[in-house]
Amino acid sequence: MTRILLLIPSRTYRTRDFVEAAHALEVEVVVGSEHPSPLAAGSPGRSLQLDLDDAPAGRRAIEEFARRYPLDAIVPVDDGSTLVAAAGAAALGLPHNRFEAVAASRDKGRLRDLLAAAGLNTPRFRIWPAGTDPEEVPSPTFPVVVKPVDLSGSRGVIRADDPDGLAAAFARVASIVRSPEVCPPGAEPQRIIVEDFIPGVEIAVEGLLRGGQLEVLAIFDKPDPLDGPFFEETIYVTPSRLPAATQVLVRETTAAATRAIGLTEGPIHAELRLNGRGAWVLEVAARSIGGLCARTLRFGAGVPLEELIIRHAARLPLPSLERERAAAGVMMLPIPRAGILREVRGQEAARAVPGIEGLTITIPIGGSLVPLPEGDRYLGFMFARADGPAEVEAALREAHRRLEVVTE
Ligand SMILES: Nc1ncnc2c1ncn2[C@@H]1O[C@H](COP(=O)(O)OP(=O)(O)O)[C@@H](O)[C@H]1O
Ligand SMILES: [Mg+2]
Repeated sequence: MTRILLLIPSRTYRTRDFVEAAHALEVEVVVGSEHPSPLAAGSPGRSLQLDLDDAPAGRRAIEEFARRYPLDAIVPVDDGSTLVAAAGAAALGLPHNRFEAVAASRDKGRLRDLLAAAGLNTPRFRIWPAGTDPEEVPSPTFPVVVKPVDLSGSRGVIRADDPDGLAAAFARVASIVRSPEVCPPGAEPQRIIVEDFIPGVEIAVEGLLRGGQLEVLAIFDKPDPLDGPFFEETIYVTPSRLPAATQVLVRETTAAATRAIGLTEGPIHAELRLNGRGAWVLEVAARSIGGLCARTLRFGAGVPLEELIIRHAARLPLPSLERERAAAGVMMLPIPRAGILREVRGQEAARAVPGIEGLTITIPIGGSLVPLPEGDRYLGFMFARADGPAEVEAALREAHRRLEVVTE
């Protein structure tokens, strides 16, 4: 029987979806995580405890485990485990992204250098240690975006329009990268990148790489403007309503970006901006779409994205990579204000909106709500399907209007 190692970072939303996809495939699942896994309680060979932040140690743990329990695939389920997955797959001779390519995709400065060297549109940038005096950070032009080199989910991403705004944004990002949740005791805080703000519409691309060839699985429009000062994600809708020629440009630019970075195998999630000067790659991550957003995607006869990813990694036959005909979308529910979550009212009314297929509140009642730029959790996710993308967007907006978040 095929045996796969799912590498599950503790902050992920996606454990259940990956485990269910693996079980549907009748493969044997080993859960690799930082803490003993309740999913594999008691069965030897079904769980592996390892440090996902230490690639060499993770690699050794995987090698040792695989001597007793041979592995056919290593699947990182989210950002936090892509590096250990690449190191482990290299050690076992499984198809994988080069470690350096994955590392580059997680370092916003290195990523910019590789994209620029390949002739792709890239914002001008400079990188500063977190300890730099914020008043001493210059910028030749404005607006700029200030962000940590390796966080995700728009955490710590702030737009600044003038020198005072830049100093304030820098100080705020510096305190985020120094906070204990981001910077373990004794470690060096992440550096901070300051780059040109790129105006334009933003889209996301979901893709699967096989032997260096990119198959674009979906292009998502982000119909809410993302102009800052913070960049909270809200609605994603696919298929894209952009003109066909623009979508071709998006596909070609994303493929060129994966080549520039050196990514060759497995899922990618890219974000691009489009304006009169062309397509600009903001990011390419060596993982699939985050949060619970993958629930918008079904392929062929209803196959979930997680199943495609596991099949590809385990070299099992791949079914159709064509997305279903319906339009689909998700709203990452914004956090309205800081506080303790008491109640989310109107959930039944929201679910009753035609087209709404799901609503999941992911912050527990009594849990704390931390808005961006400090926060790293969504209030929840709401899903819709309809004949066309405009209906999906309208359904999500109407359902969201019916929700009332009660905080204290
Ligand atoms: N240079 C930029 N110009 C315009 N918007 C930006 C820029 N950098 C980041 N953003 C906005 O912030 C969001 C998050 O930034 P990103 O670099 O993708 O970091 P993260 O890893 O947190 O997703 C982007 O999706 C985009 O909306
Ligand atoms: Mg991003």
